[in-house]
Amino acid sequence: MPTLFITGAAGGLGLEFVRQYREAGWTIIAPTRADMDVTDRNSIEAYVAKLGDVAVDVLINNAGMRNATPQASQLGAFTAEGWMPTLATNVIGPALVTQAVLPLVRRGAQKKIVLLSSRLGSLAAGGGGNSGGGASSYYAYRVSKTAVNQLGRCLAIDLGPEGFICALLDPGWVRTPMGGAQAALTPEESVAKMRKVIAGLEATDNGRFISLDGETVPW
Ligand SMILES: NC(=O)c1ccc[n+]([C@@H]2O[C@H](COP(=O)([O-])OP(=O)(O)OC[C@H]3O[C@@H](n4cnc5c(N)ncnc54)[C@H](OP(=O)(O)O)[C@@H]3O)[C@@H](O)[C@H]2O)c1
Repeated sequence: MPTLFITGAAGGLGLEFVRQYREAGWTIIAPTRADMDVTDRNSIEAYVAKLGDVAVDVLINNAGMRNATPQASQLGAFTAEGWMPTLATNVIGPALVTQAVLPLVRRGAQKKIVLLSSRLGSLAAGGGGNSGGGASSYYAYRVSKTAVNQLGRCLAIDLGPEGFICALLDPGWVRTPMGGAQAALTPEESVAKMRKVIAGLEATDNGRFISLDGETVPW
């Protein structure tokens, strides 16, 4: 059976990914923050080194955070310290994790690298004002998801020639600790649809930003 490597699997979407892939018989490598902090290169490399020569079929960069404090989300209150954890977790984290896990994915049969993005990062789908939260909501989070889209494009260009498929997924608005109780989808629904999209990824999907229904999300 294939092997999945997923970050941020202690709760939310990550935990549901683990539950569903495990039920489907996959081998799961799912470090929590205590095992591997995605913002800390030493901790990532130490964790991956301990795995040895395993092969990974699908890497899902799922760990993320949304800091809604004024320091990260309201013009007038910004501080560098307020912004940094979001950028470190949502942008630099997936870059460092992908870099470290790449040799394992190179050994895998599927060579799929997935990055969890968000419609809040889409410039074309409304830029800063497409969540109902107003243009000033979630500045750092929106910027981080726009940036992770660019990361995915860069990875796609670098790794596509080797047969990798790098895709950005929008999980929808989901009832997790991050999405909140009012969100439209359960984690079960969102993850089931994302698993279907991931299973169907082909070479032509390399570098695409994809919705739960397999549609292209505008950048
Ligand atoms: N829920 C939504 O509506 C929604 C919508 C669009 C996109 N997304 C994206 O989907 C992904 C999963 O979101 P979610 O709703 O499941 O969020 P969540 O419930 O807040 O879970 C996030 C997970 O990431 C982990 N994490 C955060 N920082 C980490 C770090 N430095 N190192 C390792 N793990 C870390 C958390 O671990 P701890 O428990 O230790 O904090 C937690 O397990 C995120 O990338 C998010 O931006 C979610």
